[in-house]
Amino acid sequence: MVDRNGWGRDRPAPTGAPHSPPASFVEQANVSDADVYAAFEDDWPDCWERAAALLSWDEAYDTVLEDDDAPFYRWFPGGKLNASYNCVDRHLESGRKTHAAIRWEGKQGERETYTYRDLYVAVNEFAAALRDLGVEADDVVTIYLPMIPELPIAMLACARIGAPHSVVFAGLSADALATRMNSADSEYLITCDGYYRRGDAFNQKSKADNACLALEHDVRTVVVDRLGDELPHVLGDDEWEYHALREAFAGETVAPVSRDAEDMLFLMYTSGTTGDPKGVVHTTGGYLAHVAWTSHAVLDVKPEDTYWCAADIGWITGHSYIVYGPLSLGTTTVMYEGTPDYPDRDRLWEIVDRNAVDIFYTAPTAIRAFMKWGPEYPERYDLSSLRLLGTVGEPISPRPWNWYREHIGGGECPIVDTWWQTETGAVTISTLPGVDDMKPGAAGPGLPGIDVQVVDETGKEVDPGEAGYLTIARPWPGMARTLYDGDERYRTEYWTRFSDPDADEWRYFSGDTACIDEDGYVTVLGRVDDVIDVSGRRLSTMEIESAITDVDGVVEAAVVGRSDGRTGTDIYAYVSTDGNRDATDGVRTAIVDNVETTIGPIATPTEIVFTPELPKTRSGKIMRRLLADIANDEELGDTSALRNPEIVGEIQTESGDR
Ligand code: WTA
Repeated sequence: MVDRNGWGRDRPAPTGAPHSPPASFVEQANVSDADVYAAFEDDWPDCWERAAALLSWDEAYDTVLEDDDAPFYRWFPGGKLNASYNCVDRHLESGRKTHAAIRWEGKQGERETYTYRDLYVAVNEFAAALRDLGVEADDVVTIYLPMIPELPIAMLACARIGAPHSVVFAGLSADALATRMNSADSEYLITCDGYYRRGDAFNQKSKADNACLALEHDVRTVVVDRLGDELPHVLGDDEWEYHALREAFAGETVAPVSRDAEDMLFLMYTSGTTGDPKGVVHTTGGYLAHVAWTSHAVLDVKPEDTYWCAADIGWITGHSYIVYGPLSLGTTTVMYEGTPDYPDRDRLWEIVDRNAVDIFYTAPTAIRAFMKWGPEYPERYDLSSLRLLGTVGEPISPRPWNWYREHIGGGECPIVDTWWQTETGAVTISTLPGVDDMKPGAAGPGLPGIDVQVVDETGKEVDPGEAGYLTIARPWPGMARTLYDGDERYRTEYWTRFSDPDADEWRYFSGDTACIDEDGYVTVLGRVDDVIDVSGRRLSTMEIESAITDVDGVVEAAVVGRSDGRTGTDIYAYVSTDGNRDATDGVRTAIVDNVETTIGPIATPTEIVFTPELPKTRSGKIMRRLLADIANDEELGDTSALRNPEIVGEIQTESGDR
């Protein structure tokens, strides 16, 4: 059963029955010609000019790719452009001034619409204000804001004057903010007084103040007054109020600074497996070309669409697919401040219905929650405006995939399961919805021009169906250029393990494990660290989890290893079920049966602990490390990044009662 690398088994990828996109979708799709794969292949890397052609350039680039200093690739060198011009000004010039750019839905039911003209005014005035505060090209501006319109406005204002932004997710702690600001030597901060959390006013400014106390340098701060009298605040010496600045610079315009394609557009911190967070550097030309192209080809975004990516701009998904991708194409992007279950579990569907949303993009963790709550919530609304659905962030197993298609997509909408990372900048693996069949449980093939390969320890490609390391064998435009804290760390983290510098052969290592089927479809199995060694066999936790979540009634599962104190490892499974079942309903037996039939008895969990929820990070990823600590009776690591810290105690009690 075990393949020669001891890696998973010899078996077809665990995908559900394939679906073809409906003819009505294909007919109108931005990309529907299957030759696109061959066209990219035959003309690589110049094929990426089609992505660059979606942008407006101030000066043409000299060449598409410069690779003489690999792995430090340069895309579209010599080209000049401005991201804020591409996302705002050019849509005014093409006669779309009154077209909605951002439709904002606030937590308390507030609504605001920014036309492209409104966005232009706001971005210009704020850019003028930032300049006046001293911000110059290449100064890193940190933005610590919740999902309010001032967040994309601030990002675009920075982009306009050539100042890279570093957005820190608003839910992160003062410590996390301070670490990131220190690491980037960031002397400017844009934050707010506070925001609503489940109806209560929550003080953000005091977190920002605490962070500033811990900094090694002085900071100038802009504060957005989100809560008014609800949360009065006093401005200190180096602090300015956003709306007052806008008034002071009312009507001012700032010429967009022409940036080199390889100049930094932004920094995005992501957690490393060890050490400090990594400041991933994205540049202007390649990043913008890649997000525009994938918004066009994968998300099928058209200017007349109302498009909604229900993520937070504090993470890469929101940067690429709430702000830069959709706005560069001149579409209407919906921005939602709240959570899916407040004030009720039908909130998202009410927004889809009222705005006639065409495209909806979210994470598997949200889809599993919708499935748990039941179909009655989406059934209350007319979701027939939806044409395409997307998912990102984690593997999605066939059951929630099918549920999503059935209950949100009316049994019709194609689904794109998009694999990518903070470091890849934009989508790198996905079906093209106007071209490819979909297989529930598999993301899809590498996009045209993206050379995805699954390899063994020695860097050799594995056979179809075998598990291995997910790598990309050629550079791509949206790729991170380096880490802010050093080229050496960038090289070591991503380019050392499977590259052969002497032969000038470079292979990006994603840190994920995966398998590829005969058709080239990739099923992501998890992170390299999500592997457990049972009696000398390496099993992917995601694979066991997929076998568990395929059981009727199971909503989510997380699997971790528990050391048995001698030499082996036991498999512990933490499982949450939908509202109607509990462990006595035979779910436990069904889980064991399904794991045994789909993987084998070697993967049968020693313990199955039922819990109402799994511990999640704020970006919605299951925190397996914490569950491993619980399973191993170890002192719990840092829980500050958890969205639902209260669940930890419940799981400990539940585990203790076994
Ligand atoms: C995981 C989010 C399976 C993967 C855009 C990756 C996925 C990490 C998928 C990056 C997917 C993302 N299927 N796993 N469709 N999309 N991942 O940097 O482990 O927050 O390495 O970027 O999420 O997370 P990040």
